Amino acid sequence: MSQLFFVERGDPEAPAVVFLHGFPFNHAMWQAQVEVLSQRYRCIAPDLRGYGRSPQPPDCAAWTMDDFADDVAALMDALGIARATVCGLSMGGYVAFALWRRHRSCISRLILANTKAAGDSEQAKQNRRRHAELVRTQGMRAFADEMLPKLLAPNAHPAVAEAVRAMIESTPIETVLATLPALADRPDMSEALSAISVPTLVVVGEQDAISPLSEAQFMQARIPGARLAVIPNTGHLSPMEQPEAFNQAVLAFLSETDSGSAK
Ligand code: MLT
Repeated sequence: MSQLFFVERGDPEAPAVVFLHGFPFNHAMWQAQVEVLSQRYRCIAPDLRGYGRSPQPPDCAAWTMDDFADDVAALMDALGIARATVCGLSMGGYVAFALWRRHRSCISRLILANTKAAGDSEQAKQNRRRHAELVRTQGMRAFADEMLPKLLAPNAHPAVAEAVRAMIESTPIETVLATLPALADRPDMSEALSAISVPTLVVVGEQDAISPLSEAQFMQARIPGARLAVIPNTGHLSPMEQPEAFNQAVLAFLSETDSGSAK
């Protein structure tokens, strides 16, 4: 178990929303959501182990999505949060799935943003190995150079691109090397989607090249009652690229489902 750095805003008595960042980012990607949603909800945005200001666990060269999820469950426990809406982007969505597998009683609602249920194909696994080699030999700047065009829509604001680059370049190489195998080996959730029994919102960027619309539609079709929000003019990082539209979709979902979700 690893102790996590987190930001917290909003009324501690309000229903909690836990934001899980993608790879290789940190809690800062949720700034625009925490700012707005904290007017109505208790917002918690942790840095997963090794990211942002959270330390790497000692003697741990590799970990799994389950480890990330166990850390988040322990954080919720420490904060006295029995149940929360869990909002995960991409890898954060994989961690939300791991939370569902291992700690489902702590999830009142799910927001699956720019993520997918399928595991890695052989080609995707090979790409992870190539990324490990790239990071090992050329560092995080080269990784940012490779990833940025895939992460953002072509017309993304330069300030967003700069903020994303800063997050990627600040992530320790050891963290990336420990996470890549965890991403490659994560379980396929496709068959498990139909058992998800909490209100769920699937969000996708219209131009997401990493977790495309078809993956979002796949999840929405299989999770009972799930809603789908497609955010125009955005790629893989919809909460940062189009924060107003993202927040609007999330707030609409939360308002519609507030009464049925205990804290
Ligand atoms: C992310 O944004 O978390 C990554 O794109 C996830 C992945 O590489 O599968």
